Amino acid sequence: MIEPNWTLRRVGSIDPVLLAQLCDVLLDCVEGGASVGFMDPMTRERAEAFWNRVGQGVANGGRALLVAEDANGVCGTVQLVFDLPENQPHRADLCKMLVHRRARRQGLGAALVQAAEKTALECDKTLLVLDAVTDGDAARLYDRLGWVSVGDIPNYADAQGSFLQYDGVLPRTRPVIAAGHQVIQRSAANSKRSATS
Ligand SMILES: CC(C)(COP(=O)(O)OP(=O)(O)OC[C@H]1O[C@@H](n2cnc3c(N)ncnc32)[C@H](O)[C@@H]1OP(=O)(O)O)[C@@H](O)C(=O)NCCC(=O)NCCS
Repeated sequence: MIEPNWTLRRVGSIDPVLLAQLCDVLLDCVEGGASVGFMDPMTRERAEAFWNRVGQGVANGGRALLVAEDANGVCGTVQLVFDLPENQPHRADLCKMLVHRRARRQGLGAALVQAAEKTALECDKTLLVLDAVTDGDAARLYDRLGWVSVGDIPNYADAQGSFLQYDGVLPRTRPVIAAGHQVIQRSAANSKRSATS
């Protein structure tokens, strides 16, 4: 069996070296066409501003940041957001799972999700929520790891002029909360562009 050529760790702060490497991963993903909250062309300045905000969240306990590193530095990352409304202390949002193109299709994405799930449990979070592009690489990965889609949201994100449809997904392995919440959505009446999946 081939051993993974990365190591995973949770970081407590973002120093300048880590900041530059996290920017490299984000820039690589956006340049590769990933829908992760930014529009291409992406700039290093915007990437730095984003990771500096993440660093503040990590420092004040509002998020957990995990990174995977190989011989060239950071090759993957994922976050858990804990800074949520006070009636949701049991849950976290899993977001910004990014694997540099040099490290894809070797199991790193799966390892990051599993590490994030373990971190969530260690932090007493029993419900994780995320969104992913319907039928995309990430959605397939979450399906494989036992997450359950709770529906598709049309027109969720802009992808260079057309809209992407997203899954909302929940893990089926976590306890179900007693009182369910229905997510209500309403399409913008003046949307001129159609959904693509
Ligand atoms: C989605 C993403 C994180 C997946 O990362 P990854 O490291 O490639 O994920 P994995 O390696 O665990 O799985 C990817 C594929 O490689 C396959 N794979 C895993 N290990 C493998 C190996 N050793 N040899 C061959 N294939 C392998 C998996 O079966 C999976 O196959 P599939 O695409 O046919 O389902 C990555 O594509 C990415 O960063 N995309 C851009 C950012 C993004 O969209 N993030 C998600 C936001 S919700």
